Amino acid sequence: MSIVYDAAARTLTLNTRDSSYQMQIGPLGYLLHTYYGRRAEGDMSGLHLPKDVGFSPNPHALGAERGWSLDTPPQEYSGANAGDHRLHALKAEAESGAWGADLHYLRHEIRPGAYTLEGLPAALDPEGCAETLSVTLADPALGLEAELLYGVYERLDVITRAVRVTNTGSGTLRLRKAASVCLDLPFGDWDLIHFHGRHAMERQPERAPLLHGVQSVGSERVASSHQHNPFVILCDRHAAQYGGDCYGLMPVYSGSHLTQVERDQMGAARIVSGIRDEDFSWTLGPGERFDTPQALLCFRHDGLNALSQRFHRFIREALCRSRFSRTRRPVLLNNWEATYFNFDREKILAIAKEAKELGADLFVLDDGWFGKRNDDHSSLGDWFVNEQKLPGGLEPLIRGVKDLGLQFGLWVEPEMVSEDSELYRAHPDWALKVPGREPFLSRSQLALDLSRPEVADWIYHTLAELLRRYEIDYIKWDFNRSLTDLWSPALPAERQGELAHRCTLGLYRVMERLTAEFPQVLFEGCAGGGGRFDAGMLAFFPQIWCSDDTDPIERLVIQRGSSYGYPLSCMGAHVSASPNHQTGRRTPLDTRAVVAMAGGFGYELDPGKLSEEEKDRIRAQIARFRRYEPLLREGDYYRIGEEEDPADFAAWQVASRERDESLLSLVLTHPRANPAPLHLRFRGLDPEARYTLRLELFDACAAEGMPREGVYSGGALLYAGFTFPRMFGDYPSAQVYLKKIAD
Ligand code: DGJ
Repeated sequence: MSIVYDAAARTLTLNTRDSSYQMQIGPLGYLLHTYYGRRAEGDMSGLHLPKDVGFSPNPHALGAERGWSLDTPPQEYSGANAGDHRLHALKAEAESGAWGADLHYLRHEIRPGAYTLEGLPAALDPEGCAETLSVTLADPALGLEAELLYGVYERLDVITRAVRVTNTGSGTLRLRKAASVCLDLPFGDWDLIHFHGRHAMERQPERAPLLHGVQSVGSERVASSHQHNPFVILCDRHAAQYGGDCYGLMPVYSGSHLTQVERDQMGAARIVSGIRDEDFSWTLGPGERFDTPQALLCFRHDGLNALSQRFHRFIREALCRSRFSRTRRPVLLNNWEATYFNFDREKILAIAKEAKELGADLFVLDDGWFGKRNDDHSSLGDWFVNEQKLPGGLEPLIRGVKDLGLQFGLWVEPEMVSEDSELYRAHPDWALKVPGREPFLSRSQLALDLSRPEVADWIYHTLAELLRRYEIDYIKWDFNRSLTDLWSPALPAERQGELAHRCTLGLYRVMERLTAEFPQVLFEGCAGGGGRFDAGMLAFFPQIWCSDDTDPIERLVIQRGSSYGYPLSCMGAHVSASPNHQTGRRTPLDTRAVVAMAGGFGYELDPGKLSEEEKDRIRAQIARFRRYEPLLREGDYYRIGEEEDPADFAAWQVASRERDESLLSLVLTHPRANPAPLHLRFRGLDPEARYTLRLELFDACAAEGMPREGVYSGGALLYAGFTFPRMFGDYPSAQVYLKKIAD
């Protein structure tokens, strides 16, 4: 049993393999949070001594007793306008205008399996081992119940949380805030790590001490955004990659989100996370209920890298429902950076032919194949073929690609519409616009109102028709603008605050229908690169294009930042041309491949422009990737280097769970004239075992670039480490492959 109720102590304890989480039904039925941390037995409620705090309200029922207030003890899910002046998790408004939430324990239930959420992605129970705790809190004065849901995944070391709010009154209830999670950490000195960025520079880790007051990370773009990824870590001030307490919180949500972290008057931390509440409201009629998105929680005592590994496994094994999550992915070649909009059938088939000769499995036709799209000013919504470029339609093109022995993939951007499109001319009201105001354009396009069932249905039917009609093996699903002008003719005035969330629900509905009906299709998410790189998308799509910046040296930073929360197998990464189209930087071809192998591997260049020598190298790269692919997909990931962000190199390692093979990759980002020896220690090996080591140096000039082989003990590699021969030149790279020698 991973969930234990102790009736005497009135505690509910959730145990994962290495962590314990506890709450207690406290005075007056308030649900207190007593502990979350390293696995430990017993009743932790004694940690929280009652205290009379100046200017803190005491519940009326305590009469003259002033020694207890809601303002400082750790709460499981905070209300509002009811004695706790810290961050609120739930705020509702009754018809009378009375607002807030004063939540008291009503009942709980422990049941096997994972819980599901209405219209929202939630983790599955692939091994049949998950357990669910449901604790219902009530505020009879406002007429609401909040059912706190906890999914406990003991082996995977993760707890999921969500909340279901029900209107139990006789009038309407307006939710003004309904967070997925509230987590109080009463003791500790914390740093907040979050992942900020911008287009072509996503998920840059930023770490800073938690200060008194509130810090927040969020998006109001109705997309999780390039700017603030929905994932935060709260870690001990001294925590590092391989040591120290850390908590990770990842909303399973792709829309407008908000995570707030408060350090209160006592120095305690509170995290509240969920749908961004500023422009949100949701009206519930009597008996109606609202489900919040899910959030994933993980605690590790042994540092940031172990925390990342738990999220990686959880996403791969419990969250992502695509069959591709755990199977070999095709090596693809995408024509975007090869041609942009400028192609015709002959050109595409010539590229596909070269792709086949290089050893790729899948050819992807990117933007520009539909309507009259020859640039990004028109045709979104017109998902029929651009006959000017592809006379005769998609059929002969797909046949041509398939005849080469390749799979075929297609780009779409189904949530958008161009003003210059047949769709817009037929349904101008389907685009988001505020009445009386011209809508804001972004990349010359408008966003469709996915809150409207007829619009979401139209998208589903249009894509389903494409997938039924043509032999399409892969879809790249793009999304190239933030949403603004939020107003929908389909919602009454008092429900306009529901629009952003309803758009996200509409998207999930379409994705759910399509992925369920076409499980053989590999879907890759994309949003101008990694603008919607989140656990909600990953529940449906096993991979997401990581960034529009394909410069490998930039990608090192973006992919390393992404690795804090997300597995390598879900980061689309391509080898592109040099000089790079985004930065103009020149890099060696093999270094580009080493970096792209830390992701869903593919190519995005014109093979016709390559020399024969480069083509041979690419064949070797693809062969190498195929050898390593199962390891890279399923293995445990390690950020290598003692510092969080090493200055002169980037290194990462993937080791099989059985510790019988491992691959370390290294890129020298800053060659020095007189460098100190580059010495690294491996991770994830069996200290008692012996390993054969094969070092391959790529593009490291001349004599020192010799392959090296040897036999080493696991202990020597783990504790003494390995010194690399001097690497010389522009961005050389290396890979070290270790294979355990059978006893
Ligand atoms: C943005 C994507 O991130 C690119 O890879 C490419 O598909 C373009 N959109 C096409 O318009």
